[in-house]
Formats: sequence, C-alpha cells, structure tokens
Amino acid sequence: MPPSSRMAPPPLAGVVVVAAALLLLLPEAAEPRTLLSLDDFGAVGDGVANDTQALVDAWSAACATGDHTFLHVPPAKSYLVWPVTLAGPCREEIKLFISGNIVAPESPDEWPEGGGGGGEWLHFVGVSDLTLSGGGVIDGRGHRWWARSCKAKHNATENCTTQAAPKALHFEDCQGISVMGITLQNSQESHLTFTRCSHVKANYLRITSPEDSPDTTGVHVVSSRNVHIMDDSISTGHDCVSIVGNSTDVRLRAISCGPGHGISIGGLGENRSYHRVEKIKMDTLFISNTENGVRVKTFQGGCGTARKMKFGDILMKNVKNPIVIDQQNSSSNEIPCGSKNGSAVTVGEISYTDITGTSASERAVTFACSEAAPCSKLSLENVNITMAGGQNASAYCHHAFGKSVGVVVPDSCLGKEDYLRRQVPASAAAAGGGTQEKGGEDDDR
Ligand SMILES: *[C@@H]1O[C@H](CO)[C@@H](O)[C@H](O)[C@H]1NC(C)=O
Ligand SMILES: *[C@@H]1O[C@H](CO)[C@@H](O)[C@H](O)[C@H]1NC(C)=O
Ligand SMILES: *[C@@H]1O[C@H](CO)[C@@H](O)[C@H](O)[C@H]1NC(C)=O
Ligand SMILES: *[C@@H]1O[C@H](CO)[C@@H](O)[C@H](O)[C@H]1NC(C)=O
Ligand SMILES: *[C@@H]1O[C@H](CO)[C@@H](O)[C@H](O)[C@H]1NC(C)=O
Ligand SMILES: *[C@@H]1O[C@H](CO)[C@@H](O)[C@H](O)[C@H]1NC(C)=O
Ligand SMILES: *[C@@H]1O[C@H](CO)[C@@H](O)[C@H](O)[C@H]1NC(C)=O
Ligand SMILES: *[C@@H]1O[C@H](CO)[C@@H](O)[C@H](O)[C@H]1NC(C)=O
Ligand SMILES: *[C@@H]1O[C@H](CO)[C@@H](O)[C@H](O)[C@H]1NC(C)=O
Repeated sequence: MPPSSRMAPPPLAGVVVVAAALLLLLPEAAEPRTLLSLDDFGAVGDGVANDTQALVDAWSAACATGDHTFLHVPPAKSYLVWPVTLAGPCREEIKLFISGNIVAPESPDEWPEGGGGGGEWLHFVGVSDLTLSGGGVIDGRGHRWWARSCKAKHNATENCTTQAAPKALHFEDCQGISVMGITLQNSQESHLTFTRCSHVKANYLRITSPEDSPDTTGVHVVSSRNVHIMDDSISTGHDCVSIVGNSTDVRLRAISCGPGHGISIGGLGENRSYHRVEKIKMDTLFISNTENGVRVKTFQGGCGTARKMKFGDILMKNVKNPIVIDQQNSSSNEIPCGSKNGSAVTVGEISYTDITGTSASERAVTFACSEAAPCSKLSLENVNITMAGGQNASAYCHHAFGKSVGVVVPDSCLGKEDYLRRQVPASAAAAGGGTQEKGGEDDDR
C-alpha cells in the first residue's frame, strides 16, 4: 500500500483499492474448503454392511461446515444405503463426489414397512448449491421391485402390487442442484426426480435400466423451473424425460434416448388437477427404438396449459409414435376444475422443426386434440419421417390447427388457424391472436 492510503484518499482511489483486494480473494483456490471421505464416518463399503448412518453423519458434517465442502464416496467400493433423507439448508456449497457405488437394498421386504407406499430412496430436501459428480454409480437394484409390479406381470415372481415403487434419487424444494457425470441405474421407479426445484442441471449422465422395467423414468421434472438436461444417454423402461406439474424454462439438448417411452410433456391434468407447462425447448435429440418420440399428453377433465414449446433438430429411428399430441377425449361435459368451461388442458404454440427419421408404425404424426380445447398454433417445418421399411407414413389430426413450412412429410393435416379464429368469440381470438409470432422466440436460451 502506498503511504498515501493512510491519508483520506480521493473516493475513486478507495474504490480501486477495494476492487483490487477483491480480485485477490476471488480465485477459487483461495476459498477455504473442507475435504471429507465417507469412510471417515464409519462406512464399510463392502456392499453388505449398513452404511446409512455413515452417510447421514457425513452429510450432517458437510452441511454444518462454513466452508465449501467436498464429500467423497471412495472408488472401487459399494456402499449399501437404506432410504434416507438428507435435508438442508446447509451453510455452504457442497460437492458430493461419488466415485464408488451407492447401492440400495435388493429386497422390498428390507425396506421400512416392507417397501409399501412409494416414497424415495435417496431424498434431498430443502438443499441449495449441491453438486453430485465424480464418475460413480447410483444403483437402485430395482429387479425385485419390478417383479412385484402389476405392470410387469409377464416377469412377476411375487404377488403383484399397484403401489408405486420408490423414486431412486429425489430432490425436493431445492435450488442450484447439479447432477453431472455419474451413472444412475436400475432404479426402483424414476431414476432422477426434481420436485419444486429451480436452477437445476442434469448433464453428462448415463441412465440405464432394462427396456421392460416398469415406470423407470430417466429424468422426471415436476413443478420445477430453469432446468437444463444436456449431454445425457438415457435408456430405460419408461420415459427418457418427462415434464409435469407447473414447470417452466426447461431445456433439453444433446440427448440420446432409447429404448423406452421417449420424451413426454405430461400426462398433465390427471384427476382434474391443474398443470401449467411452458417455455420448453429441446434440440439435438437422438431418439431410437422408443414407444414415442416427442409427446404432449393431457388427461380428460384436467385444466391448465401446455404451450410455448420448441422441438428441433431431432433424429428418430424406428420410433413407434414419433410426434404425438394426445389430449384424450377432453370434453366439455366433464366437471371443470377451476374455470367455468376449463375441462381440458389447453395445448398450443408448439413448433416442430428439422425432424427426420423413421417411424415404426404407419402413423408418424398424431395430433389428437379435443373439441373442448382444440390445439392451436402448431407449426411443422422441415419434417420428414418415413416408415422404417421405406413406405410412406401418415399424419392424423383431430381439432388441430396451425401451419406447415418447407418440406413436411407426411403431409401436414393441420387445419388453418383462421378457421379456428372464426369459431371462437371475437374477444378471445383477439387476445390469443396477437401473441402468435412472438410466441416462443423470447425464451431462446
Ligand atoms: C440401516 O441403518 C439405518 C440408520 O441407522 C436404519 O434406519 C435402518 O433400519 C438400518 N437397516 C437395517 C436393515 O438394519
Ligand atoms: C401371494 O399372496 C397369497 C395370499 O395373500 C399368499 O398366500 C402367498 O404366499 C403370496 N405369494 C408370494 C410369493 O408372496
Ligand atoms: C425379465 O426376465 C428376463 C428373463 O429372465 C430378464 O432378462 C429381464 O431383465 C427381466 N426384466 C425385468 C424387468 O426384471
Ligand atoms: C399449479 O399451480 C396452480 C396455481 O398456482 C395450483 O393450483 C396447482 O395445484 C399447481 N399444480 C401442481 C401440479 O402443482
Ligand atoms: C388419480 O386417481 C387414481 C384413482 O383414484 C389414482 O390411482 C391415481 O394415482 C391418481 N393419479 C394422480 C397423479 O394423483
Ligand atoms: C374417444 O372417443 C372416441 C369416439 O367417441 C371413442 O371411440 C374412443 O374410445 C374415445 N377414447 C377414449 C380414450 O376415451
Ligand atoms: C361454456 O359452455 C357452454 C355449453 O357448451 C356454452 O354455452 C358457454 O358459452 C361456455 N362458456 C364459456 C365462457 O365459454
Ligand atoms: C425424406 O426422407 C427420405 C428418406 O431419407 C428421402 O428418401 C426423401 O427424399 C426425403 N423427402 C424429402 C422431400 O426431402
Ligand atoms: C409416397 O409419397 C410420395 C410423395 O408424397 C408420393 O409421390 C408416392 O406416390 C407415395 N407412395 C405411395 C406408395 O403411396
């Protein structure tokens, strides 16, 4: 420090000195950090001993330090963990660095209450700023759960149950969560679930379970916002990614999906619930050997909306239903939830751009919308899907309206938007009409 700093410096010089001091403190290496190993909390890691308490204790320690904490799950070991809730808030950012395996007990009978009633295995609640990484494996060892499921009757070895199996890794009411560069496999039910979370990343993941395992969704997004799901390879028995509840700003990019049920928005509005899913953008998807490609599904009698979605740059191979909107038979004689005539989840402002490949069935495009709430402002641009055997595929539309641009194969069956506008009251049309061109462009991130 120059001696002049002892005298009252001009205000600007003071600012410069403070800024310089901050710059010295900023580099990450200077930040205090605490390194912990699960083994230091009594974990055995032989796949037999109960390491649950060790994980709970290690989490408590990590959560309580005022430093940026790394908690290591050592490699070449298997830590057997029973259902556990790891709660926040924690004092500082935590990195759970998983290099080894975390495994679940194999038999549902070993779970509390004999495994009844859904629930979850690794449950994080109310946590902020947590990263899971490290190249390791989270293995739900779900085979016995699947065998119990009535949805897998052909393989059932035990009495079947309709009760949901546990979610393997579930983040609830969290923010600033990154799950990166690990393997999630053989979950009892969905592999990775975010409920009411924000600022989420699920990147560089490998998610696998057998094609015939029931309900093993890859990434399940429930009422969450600002979610990035990128550079992942997902092959499971159910949806690769599903998005439900009140979710917004969800981005998918560079996903390999299949086998499984593809990418699903919904089902929305089940049991007359209200769901609002919007600002969903996905591109660079490789979808193969799946039940659906990109699907929007809503249930009869629900309400809310599914809109502002962009599906672009998708290569489909042997996908049974490449492009689907399924509003079931939402009808106006259902008892509405909330609004007077709101008996369907409205669907609109959805674009499909640069989608090519093959369909395993004759019908490549299905827009099955309802009379109560026709689908509007759909757009098809540069879509070319043929049957896997080379034959022409077909498109089906029911109360679906929008436009097609460029090459669209099979031919678009969308009704013209102005037809729809003539059918609805002038005031509603005016309210909806103005947003058409703006829709979706503002959320380009
Ligand atoms: C494993 O340890 C946890 C925590 O101590 C306990 O709740 C659970 O019941 C234990 N499981 C078995 C099967 O002993
Ligand atoms: C199936 O349920 C029946 C009746 O509850 C019981 O007698 C039988 O032992 C069960 N079988 C298995 C494999 O759990
Ligand atoms: C069903 O049984 C077959 C043959 O034993 C096995 O390969 C497959 O993984 C089983 N599926 C599930 C979901 O357990
Ligand atoms: C979505 O938000 C609405 C209004 O805030 C709420 O009534 C509804 O229960 C929410 N839906 C879900 C699935 O959380
Ligand atoms: C809807 O209701 C049915 C029958 O009551 C139930 O089995 C199902 O789990 C419910 N679904 C949801 C999403 O709440
Ligand atoms: C929808 O309506 C059609 C014709 O009314 C009927 O054939 C079909 O079974 C209905 N589908 C569902 C899922 O209710
Ligand atoms: C609700 O539906 C009834 C019968 O279909 C119709 O007469 C009425 O105009 C609708 N109300 C609104 C607000 O759309
Ligand atoms: C659509 O794709 C098929 C198969 O790749 C190709 O043969 C055909 O020329 C394409 N059609 C158009 C109009 O681009
Ligand atoms: C397939 O579609 C193309 C282009 O629309 C058409 O020229 C051709 O005749 C169709 N082939 C068959 C077998 O329908």
